[in-house]
Amino acid sequence: MRALLPALVLFALSAGFSGAAQAQRKDRQGKEVVDAVCGACHASGKDGAPRIGDANAWSSRASQGLTALTDHAINGIRKMPAHGGTAGVSDIEIERAITYMVNRSGGNWVEPLGGTAPVAARTSEAIVKGQCAQCHQAGKDGAPRIGDRTAWTPRLAKGLDSLVASAIHGHGPMPARGGMPDLSDQQIRGAILYMFSYGLPAIPPQPPVAAADPHHKLVSGIDVYFGMMRAEAMRAAQGTTGGPKVDVPSGSGYYHLNVALADNKSQAPVTDAKVTMQVSDGMTVQSKTLNLVAANNAVSYGNFFRFSSGSAYNITTEIQRPGASPVVAKFEFKAP
Ligand code: HEC
Ligand code: HEC
Repeated sequence: MRALLPALVLFALSAGFSGAAQAQRKDRQGKEVVDAVCGACHASGKDGAPRIGDANAWSSRASQGLTALTDHAINGIRKMPAHGGTAGVSDIEIERAITYMVNRSGGNWVEPLGGTAPVAARTSEAIVKGQCAQCHQAGKDGAPRIGDRTAWTPRLAKGLDSLVASAIHGHGPMPARGGMPDLSDQQIRGAILYMFSYGLPAIPPQPPVAAADPHHKLVSGIDVYFGMMRAEAMRAAQGTTGGPKVDVPSGSGYYHLNVALADNKSQAPVTDAKVTMQVSDGMTVQSKTLNLVAANNAVSYGNFFRFSSGSAYNITTEIQRPGASPVVAKFEFKAP
């Protein structure tokens, strides 16, 4: 069997370092700064300050991008005093406070990390928050926005490798290596996947289970990796992982079935497909559309199905890519 998507491996390697990167942070989080300083005017909208929660007031300002807004908040603009009128608010705290206010007002920005973690210790998250977000947060100069699947999917369709190459060389307003010359190709790859999958429901890593070994099929040039996880195990693991969650159904016998798809030639993840799955034991049929989900910064398609213990099931996955004929991959599963 082929190795899993390289992104899964990459994430597993980098995840171990994030503790170290976090330990270096002393700056306050956005909410604390807003509660202590900015809220004095921005909670009520005093003197025409954009009010927290007012999506209209913030969205027009947010389109300037975090860098420009931070600049205005640090130096002051019109009735907005420099540093919110309070000494001792660091630049990174200002950035986080703005991000917090934008997000409380209908935005979807990631809070910047700041600090200077050693190159090798930078996770995809740290790279994106510390660097790429400067432009990819608000979509400056047409940069595809973080978590905006509509903007990223057609670019990813060219293949992840060519996208990595494009980011390495840069073009137009996109600087070479995103303006961080010391990033490795792997780190750029991870950052791109992070920006694509940001905001997708996270599912915990799926440990190989003897009875449900992930299967692999190659059909019409698409590698299909099949995996499954007991709902009980997902519930247990969710308490320990951060980020958005999948709604795990209550009741017994549920499994989360998922398929990760990759173009066989380029090994780029396939992210533009509509995927349906049919699960049948010969008597009953469950048919569902699979949702895009994020697992460890990679993407796959999944949904929950219910199984009776001891029965054997045929699993038929239909993959429909735009402009292509549907592709079918079949798997089998016997519920323990
Ligand atoms: C004394 C009142 C006051 C405090 C305290 C304050 N602001 Fe403001 N802020 C304003 C006003 C008034 C404006 C609107 C200025 C304008 O556009 O005319 C504003 C505008 C802004 C803008 C939009 C700038 C732009 O370019 O459109 C940002 C960003 C901002 N504030 C951030 C902050 C942050 C971060 C803090 C806390 C560290 C903070 N403010 C604290 C009064 C305040
Ligand atoms: C100074 C602003 C800026 C920064 C910083 C930046 N980008 Fe970009 N990026 C852009 C813009 C603008 C585009 C859109 C360019 C276009 O399509 O013409 C873009 C496009 C891209 C693309 C799509 C390329 C393609 O061929 O479709 C990738 C991938 C990318 N950026 C990755 C990154 C990564 C990773 C980082 C952080 C390490 C980063 N960028 C940092 C501005 C930036």
